Amino acid sequence: MPHAHNSLRGPFGAPLFYIPETPSTNDLARDAAEAGAVEGTTYVAGAQTAGRGRLGRTWFSPPGAGLYVSTLIRRPALIPWASLAAGVAVADGIREATGLPVQLKWPNDIVAVGARGFANRRKLCGILCEASSGATGVLYLVVGFGINVLTAAYPPELSDRATSIESELGRAVESDLVLAGCIAAVDRVFERVTVDGAAWLLPRWLELAPSARGSRVEWQGADARRNGVTAGIDADGALLVRTEDRIERVLAGEVTWLP
Ligand code: BTN
Repeated sequence: MPHAHNSLRGPFGAPLFYIPETPSTNDLARDAAEAGAVEGTTYVAGAQTAGRGRLGRTWFSPPGAGLYVSTLIRRPALIPWASLAAGVAVADGIREATGLPVQLKWPNDIVAVGARGFANRRKLCGILCEASSGATGVLYLVVGFGINVLTAAYPPELSDRATSIESELGRAVESDLVLAGCIAAVDRVFERVTVDGAAWLLPRWLELAPSARGSRVEWQGADARRNGVTAGIDADGALLVRTEDRIERVLAGEVTWLP
C-alpha cells in the first residue's frame, strides 16, 4: 500500500501519498476516487513505468528526474474550468518556488522560453486532466502533472524540445519545494475559483500564455490543413484563431506554432 507522506498534505489538507514507482499516478488517483477518496487526495511517484501524456502519447518518467503528481478534484461546477485552473496553478507554483518565468502554451504545456525566444521554447511540464463520466455527468477529475525538475538524459526524439527547471536556472533545485509550491497553488487557485468565480482565471491564463495571441499557427481542420493567427481562448478553453475570413475555435488535437 502507498504510505502517506509525513510532512506534506495535498491540496485542501487531503492526504498525500508518495510511491517510489508506479505505472501512472493518474491511475492511482482514479482508483482512489472510485474507492471514495476525499478531494485533494494526491499521489506523487518517484518514477512511472507507463506515464501517459495527451493525445495517447507516453510521458517519459525516469527516476530521480521529475515530479509525477496526480490530484483528485471533486467539484462538478468547476469541471469546465479545471484545465485552465490547473495550468495557472502549476505555472504559478513553479514560478513561485523557483523564480523561473515559465509560460503556458495552449492547451496546457508549460514551457521555458528564456533568451531563445518562443520559436525555440522547450517544454518542462505537461498536464493531463482525466474526467470520470457517469450517467449524471462528470463526477470527478484527476489532474496529473509531470515536471522535469532535474536534468535527465532525454530520449533523442525529445532532446531538442525538452528541458528541466535545473537546466534553465543553471542551479540545483529542491524537488520538494517545487512540489509544495504547486500543491499550495492548486489549493489556492481552485479555492479562488470556487469562492470568487472564474472571471479572473481567463485573464491570468492569457497573461501566462503570451503565444495565445498574435502567433501564427497551423492545425488539421475537418477536411484540410488550416492556418491563422492566435486570438486568445474562450471560456471553454478553446483556442481562437483568426483565419482569412473568420475566427475559428480549435478544441483539441495538435496545433503547430509556425516560426
Ligand atoms: C502532456 O503534456 O502530454 C501531459 C503529460 C502529463 C504527465 C503526468 S505525470 C503524472 C500524471 N500521470 C500520468 O500518467 N500522466 C500525468
